[in-house]
Amino acid sequence: MKMTRPVSLGFVGLAVTAALLFFERSLTARQSPASSATATKSMVPDNPSEHPAPPQPIPYSHKKHLALGLECKTCHTNPEPGKLMTFPDTGKCMQCHVTVAKEKPTIQKLASYAKSKQAVPWVRVYTVLPGVTWSHRPHLQAGVDCETCHGQVRDMEQMSEVTSVTTMYVCLNCHDTNHAKTACDTCHKS
Ligand code: HEC
Ligand code: HEC
Ligand code: HEC
Ligand code: HEC
Ligand code: HEC
Repeated sequence: MKMTRPVSLGFVGLAVTAALLFFERSLTARQSPASSATATKSMVPDNPSEHPAPPQPIPYSHKKHLALGLECKTCHTNPEPGKLMTFPDTGKCMQCHVTVAKEKPTIQKLASYAKSKQAVPWVRVYTVLPGVTWSHRPHLQAGVDCETCHGQVRDMEQMSEVTSVTTMYVCLNCHDTNHAKTACDTCHKS
């Protein structure tokens, strides 16, 4: 037993809270049989905290670009080992912007990153606590949509943290409902 006393108490407390949450949820689930699509969606509630969009080095708009018919995977791939979705190479942006809006100051800034082969230093929006085991891959394989966890990206002029997907309650709640693993060591290495 390596844990100090206060930490182990904290763990017990959390385990109890988690157990209570499961109980409450399974009751709710039994009372309201929703379609599975709606059910999965409701597993990730909106972010109740203030969540202003962080200022980005270049004012990229998902709304504007997705209206052109681009798909998420054009820019967000899921390379091995599958944890990250990654950000697109500036070269990908320049496929259009060598010509499109090239006189605009924002695109000139983009072109200068591309010319010096630098990645655009995008400010991160969603982050799980370091040390928590997280990977996109099993979620994509289980058929969970991007929008379930990241909201209506197509309508976003600026990206902000619109959902509570990075909180433990939300991870656990969705795992419980979808019969995914809920043991502590699924997400925490002891
Ligand atoms: C043309 C390229 C492009 C396409 C297509 C695109 N994105 Fe993005 N995405 C970006 C760029 C650039 C950023 C970083 C700037 C920002 O946060 O707005 C980003 C950021 C994000 C982030 C924030 C990640 C973080 O934690 O910082 C999410 C979530 C996201 N995109 C989801 C999506 C989804 C879902 C789709 C499809 C519906 C999509 N994107 C389509 C280029 C793209
Ligand atoms: C498929 C072509 C295409 C790709 C790929 C693309 N864009 Fe665009 N982008 C456009 C079009 C079209 C517009 C709208 C131009 C206009 O309004 O005059 C635009 C507009 C913009 C603007 C607004 C320019 C302004 O100041 O009005 C920015 C900034 C921008 N794109 C950044 C990016 C970034 C960053 C990437 C890569 C992550 C990217 N674009 C990838 C086609 C593209
Ligand atoms: C089950 C929920 C879930 C799903 C489904 C999901 N994401 Fe994420 N996404 C997250 C979480 C949580 C983070 C923060 C992870 C971190 O801190 O590394 C994140 C981070 C990101 C990031 C930034 C960091 C990175 O991974 O490179 C991008 C971009 C992103 N997601 C895009 C997408 C796109 C596109 C899809 C659909 C193909 C998608 N996500 C599906 C939960 C999800
Ligand atoms: C919208 C539902 C949903 C949300 C939200 C969600 N997950 Fe999952 N998660 C799943 C499903 C479904 C699987 C796949 C289960 C399977 O294949 O048996 C999974 C699998 C995993 C796995 C792989 C487990 C294994 O070893 O098989 C990890 C790790 C994981 N999730 C961590 C997280 C973390 C951390 C969060 C919160 C930041 C999170 N998940 C949020 C639904 C979700
Ligand atoms: C499906 C993934 C998942 C499972 C299962 C899970 N957690 Fe977590 N846990 C998280 C995430 C994500 C965070 C970070 C939350 C945040 O940043 O708000 C977290 C945070 C914590 C923290 C706070 C850590 C810190 O350093 O502040 C404790 C303590 C904790 N979890 C204990 C537990 C216990 C005990 C269990 C088993 C009953 C458990 N967790 C099961 C995902 C999970």
